[in-house]
Amino acid sequence: MKDLFPSERTKSVSAESEMTQDPFSAPARPSPNIAPDDKDAAIELSVVVPTYNEKDNIPVLLAALDGALSGIEWEAIFVDDNSPDGTANYLRSIASSNRKIRLIERMGRHGLSSACIEGIMSSAAPYIAVMDADMQHDETILPQMLKRIRSDRLDLVVGSRNLVSGGMGEFSRHRVWLSDLGNRISHLVCHCDVSDAMSGFFVVDRTYFNEVAHRLTGAGFKILVDLLASSRRPVRVAEIPYRFRKREKGVSKLDVNVELEYLFLLVDKMIGSYVPTRFVLFVLVGSLGVVVHLSTLALLYHTWQMPFVASQAIATVVAMTFNFLLNNVVTFRDRRLHGLRLFTGLLTFYFACSLGALMNVSFAEFLHRHTVPWYLAGASGTIISSVWNYGVNTILTWRRARI
Ligand code: GDD
Ligand code: MN
Repeated sequence: MKDLFPSERTKSVSAESEMTQDPFSAPARPSPNIAPDDKDAAIELSVVVPTYNEKDNIPVLLAALDGALSGIEWEAIFVDDNSPDGTANYLRSIASSNRKIRLIERMGRHGLSSACIEGIMSSAAPYIAVMDADMQHDETILPQMLKRIRSDRLDLVVGSRNLVSGGMGEFSRHRVWLSDLGNRISHLVCHCDVSDAMSGFFVVDRTYFNEVAHRLTGAGFKILVDLLASSRRPVRVAEIPYRFRKREKGVSKLDVNVELEYLFLLVDKMIGSYVPTRFVLFVLVGSLGVVVHLSTLALLYHTWQMPFVASQAIATVVAMTFNFLLNNVVTFRDRRLHGLRLFTGLLTFYFACSLGALMNVSFAEFLHRHTVPWYLAGASGTIISSVWNYGVNTILTWRRARI
């Protein structure tokens, strides 16, 4: 009992510091209640490794890190999203006898970027490396990266595949093309010139991370773009080339979603501080729905000469179904519905949107009756129903699953 519940004294100290301190900044002085652990020197480098089904790669990676980082006080922080292959249990068994190894296991959540962010936040080291578990990143350049970030007082040092002596290894041509495209687009939002912003291999300075932590999006796979684009000042960054290795064990987790996640990140970085990004995607999907509606109406009424009311009714159902399916894979892709939930979700979507349409018409009619010009009345009705549809469907149709 004693260990589980802090004493009154500890409680009041932490309550006080919670009120006065920024949670991201280091405490002004170490807690007087805890004796320094002089058995181990302070950690210089935390290596954060996101994992999903990487059990077979763990022993190889740990041996490689141990070899590469001799002479450096390091620790590895694994962030596992409840991998079905038992990666977390395996890591826990190693961590139970080795203080260098730590594990964060997340339930009901997933995503490479958010895993890295949580790993970094759990570290107290002045420098944090982020790397994949599958041995594709070359751990032997870590000491060089650490030396460089320290000596040049940089914010970030990136392991880059696009520099002359680096390379994409045996990456498929399609992935190289996508990676190039992504790098070019990243210049829209990043405040610096980095040749490989798509890289998942870098060392970040703790102070810089704390500076941008509040503005990180945390969505998708592109944690480095997120870190670079969240800065309000030019980022001091250097790149060190390495050759991307072939994955020997396990499989890549990046699929078509990568592009969608990247789109989400870019939209969020461009306008996310003004309007919620999910809402922007919802409205974009809704605009495509209007196109689908009018095309269906044209086909039924104009080409096939069906009665207008029937054509309009069918076009409405087609557009709503289209919107539902597209929202399911784009706007709410992280809460995507499958099987029976897809069907019940469609019904609640129809229901919510029908009420939204009713509100749209009644509100626009009310404004128009009170001498508001027709276009303003129409636009106001549409805005009201979009916000309603978004809010109600977020709560009803794509409600957050329990952890
Ligand atoms: N915790 C967690 N949660 N880890 C994840 C998740 C997730 O949802 N998805 C992937 N990972 C882990 C993998 O287990 C691996 O250690 C690492 O993240 C990278 O995943 P891979 O599936 O191996 O990615 P990749 O090799 O195809 O992509 C690499 O290159 C991209 C650039 O094209 C990665 O380095 C990416 O970060 C990089 O953007
Ligand atoms: Mn990989």
